[in-house]
Amino acid sequence: MAAALDWKGEGSSRTPFDAYTSEALYQRELERLFYSRHWCYIGLEAEIPNPGDFRRTEVGERSVIMTRDKEGKVVVVENACAHRGMQFCRERAGNAQDFRCPYHQWNYDLNGNLTGVPFRRGVRQGGRINGGMPSNFDPKEHGLRLLRVSTRGGAVFASFDPDVESFEDFLGPQILAYYDRLFHGPKLTVLGYTRQRIPSNWKLMQENIKDPYHAGLLHTWFVNFGLWRADNPARLVTDARHRHGAMISIRSGGGGGEVTRNVTSFKERMTLHDDRFLDVVHEPWWGEPTVVMLTLMPSVIIQQQVNALSTRRIRPSGPGVFDYVWTHFGFETDDDTMTRRRLRQANLFGPAGFVSADDGEVIECVQQSFAQVKHGHVYNELGGQQVDDHTDHMVSETLVRGMYQYWREVMEAKS
Ligand code: FES
Ligand code: FE2
Repeated sequence: MAAALDWKGEGSSRTPFDAYTSEALYQRELERLFYSRHWCYIGLEAEIPNPGDFRRTEVGERSVIMTRDKEGKVVVVENACAHRGMQFCRERAGNAQDFRCPYHQWNYDLNGNLTGVPFRRGVRQGGRINGGMPSNFDPKEHGLRLLRVSTRGGAVFASFDPDVESFEDFLGPQILAYYDRLFHGPKLTVLGYTRQRIPSNWKLMQENIKDPYHAGLLHTWFVNFGLWRADNPARLVTDARHRHGAMISIRSGGGGGEVTRNVTSFKERMTLHDDRFLDVVHEPWWGEPTVVMLTLMPSVIIQQQVNALSTRRIRPSGPGVFDYVWTHFGFETDDDTMTRRRLRQANLFGPAGFVSADDGEVIECVQQSFAQVKHGHVYNELGGQQVDDHTDHMVSETLVRGMYQYWREVMEAKS
């Protein structure tokens, strides 16, 4: 059993560096955050429109397959053969009638039932039957491991935990309202993928999207063009347990002002050669906000930044590395011009995005420091030490404090 983190002192407003570097704590996070009690993001229904379509992905580090069965239901199974455990599915995506493990050719239907075992009743040689499975072998007991599945608005979540609360209770009413705002009815369309490996602890990306402070300081694009900065109207919202977050804002016209004075990322004379990157069209379902960034603990960030929409799945790989997998999407109701617009604006995001490349780089540099300095702590006290249920401005790190309050509880940190 991993040692719990010794976390005394100011509480959730100061996170010890060990929380980002310890292998033992990381193993405990996998067990308690990714493999139990939580719903993890799997993908979009639009990725598997037809029966037999499948897509391989992960929950935490564990390989799983999302598929659509013959009746059209979404199924998620673990990609581990019930015989000797082989990760039998090697393709990223495809269409299949059934799954066959290459090692000894055990066969499973799309619902994970074991349907074929070679030489189950032995092999006849010289008038005798040799070997085979024991007479009490029951294929029903040797299917693939099934995860619980929840689909809502076209996005698929799953959990290894049979006792996990409902997806709706997991999000809580406040976060669910923002989730439903985005996934508001029309079928989704997949516009493309980007993926990157970031050498930092996975939590730093959750924190980055719970940290509105940096957005108007680090990102030249946000400050100059008014997409996100400290003088924009904003709200920070969380659920009752403070594990998830929503950062909500309304864009302004950009330009100079009090919040750009002495801000080095503000470039007075910066203009775009191609201003179609910012050809923003207000969509009726937005309501007032032009940006809503949702952080769902532990596995995903869901982005609406003006017309650019994406899910960003987190796939941890040890305490110091994670993969960040972006699925850019739109709606079936979009015309070609809107699809073009979403794709063009997607240039701000993803691994080499005009905005997001900054985030990947800074959290890498933060992790380097954690690994070298060892006994420090992160100082999260912008806006106070308390955790607020909501704020109506963005000059606060309350969502980060809330996340660590929850983390300490689940991880049973010693305080
Ligand atoms: Fe899959 Fe043997 S490991 S059939
Ligand atoms: Fe950022």
